[in-house]
Amino acid sequence: MKSKASAPGKVILFGEHFVVYGVKAILCAINKRISVTAEKSEENKISIKSNIGNLTLEPNKLISEINSPLKPFYYLANKMIQNQNTGIEIVVESDIPLGVGLGSSSACCVAGAAAISRLFHKTSKEEILKLAIEAEKTIFKNTSGADCTVCTYGGIMEYDKENGFDKIESEPNFHLVIVNSNIEHSTESVVARVREFKEKNETKFATLCNNESKLVKDVLGLLKENNIKELGCKVIQNQKYLETIGISNDKLREMIQGGQNESFGAKITGAGGGGCIFALTDESNLDQTMNQFKEKNYDCFSVKIDFKGLDTF
Ligand code: MEV
Repeated sequence: MKSKASAPGKVILFGEHFVVYGVKAILCAINKRISVTAEKSEENKISIKSNIGNLTLEPNKLISEINSPLKPFYYLANKMIQNQNTGIEIVVESDIPLGVGLGSSSACCVAGAAAISRLFHKTSKEEILKLAIEAEKTIFKNTSGADCTVCTYGGIMEYDKENGFDKIESEPNFHLVIVNSNIEHSTESVVARVREFKEKNETKFATLCNNESKLVKDVLGLLKENNIKELGCKVIQNQKYLETIGISNDKLREMIQGGQNESFGAKITGAGGGGCIFALTDESNLDQTMNQFKEKNYDCFSVKIDFKGLDTF
């Protein structure tokens, strides 16, 4: 029997990094997905095939000794086959660019947790999310859990560490142009750099957290009104805060500048240091914004909100 699941990638619209320190963030799932197929096998091995490489290992290895981005799948499979006389074969297919802040690893964890656990028993979305966050912690110990949450439930949501997520029921009608710097980044090391900044600038950082909280509150109102133009101003403002905490660089600034004229606003999304930016548009300026990026040979594509979240087959 095969068990298949797919989960969307995500974009952090507002609040990345500050969310680690308790500020509310706003995220949305995007219509680019990762699919995971899992199957029991007679051989007592865990085998994972993906377009970033393969991994085949005996069960019960120490997670800390595995040096592979596919480690979360191993963790999930190994957990599920305890006291079961079986191996597992996993195949991962992705249309989300990997390692650039678009939630590829969270989507892997969510789709992986669903596909693997459902080989053994029916699991609720809540259980899958819990497993996915555990798995994500094998590669990023301090994850806030926000990314896995939006990949599971889809749509647009507010999230803070203390209260978890709350789905935003409005369906704002925007398009995001995603531009990939093609600079891979490690979320863990950028988050560590921000922690250093915070420790050296406690007062400044506290002010930034306050400002970000106010901005997010305003954004919640604007989302309900579908006021995309004003949302663009908040995007520009949020980018200024991200510049201050040192997660930007010349390439990202150049990209943001590149889209600012036609779109309503552009900012880094996710950890920064590399990865992607997005430019906020609607039907009226989507093509012009895409063209501006294309003229400069940037790697770009447009996405909309995915309202489905985790899907199982
Ligand atoms: C990474 O996509 C988002 C960060 O805020 C880290 C986190 O929330 O765990 C940078």
